[in-house]
Amino acid sequence: MTDASLATVSTRRPPALLRAENITKTYRDGVETVWACREVNLEIFPGELVWLRGVSGGGKSTLLMALAGLVGVDEGSIYLGNSLYSNASAKARARMRLTEIGIVFQDFLLLEEFTAAENVMLPLEAMGTSPAEARAEAARWLEVVGLAQLNDRRPAQLSGGQRQRVAVARALAGGKSLILADEPTGSLDSATSHEIFALLRSLADQGVAIVMASHDPSFSDFADVVYDIRDGILTRIPVPAESS
Ligand SMILES: Nc1ncnc2c1ncn2[C@@H]1O[C@H](COP(=O)(O)OP(=O)(O)OP(=O)(O)O)[C@@H](O)[C@H]1O
Ligand SMILES: [Mg+2]
Repeated sequence: MTDASLATVSTRRPPALLRAENITKTYRDGVETVWACREVNLEIFPGELVWLRGVSGGGKSTLLMALAGLVGVDEGSIYLGNSLYSNASAKARARMRLTEIGIVFQDFLLLEEFTAAENVMLPLEAMGTSPAEARAEAARWLEVVGLAQLNDRRPAQLSGGQRQRVAVARALAGGKSLILADEPTGSLDSATSHEIFALLRSLADQGVAIVMASHDPSFSDFADVVYDIRDGILTRIPVPAESS
């Protein structure tokens, strides 16, 4: 083995779970072009808790939607593991998302007529898990997010923080390796937000990769990696440990 190949081996990181290469997404606003993502490069590794911050309209939600495969990109590539996710058909992307990516939005998007457990069971049943197994697994995920006693409550019978925990449990169900969260604490008070941040931190410590868009500056205490996005341009912000 040559010195050069040894150097390559010793500096190699574990493979990224998700990799965006030069992705660009524009919207047309009359004659104007809005640059929501502009030549964005990003790698997300297992166990990383990534904070995506930036001005309103900067491009956070668009980037998360693009990474989730929910909107197409104009240029560039998104890889999920070794698969070129951004070029897959909508059906193939939906299938990959179902098993690999959990998504959490600000407004929970829980089904009101279903109990907490039934909401968490939905993606499991969509993956083909039997109802009995899905119920048992949903109970385990609800325990992970601290809601062991509340499986049978409907969303209307839960607090905002508890509903958000159900949404996190549903996003995790099936053992997802990546969570994309768009302002999941936007409608919560600061104490409840911190509980959700701490929950995301503990999930990252167990190996889940998490990318979260948030306007809450206190998330910096929890995140490993910080990015700012403005006019679609993504900039990595050194965290204190990196800049020292
Ligand atoms: N469907 C759309 N059609 C046209 N323009 C859009 C569309 N979605 C987003 N945009 C524009 O793209 C830019 C980025 O929007 P995006 O929602 O990604 O920002 P954001 O950083 O999530 O903002 P916020 O903090 O307010 O949620 C904005 O200028 C927005 O107006
Ligand atoms: Mg947004």
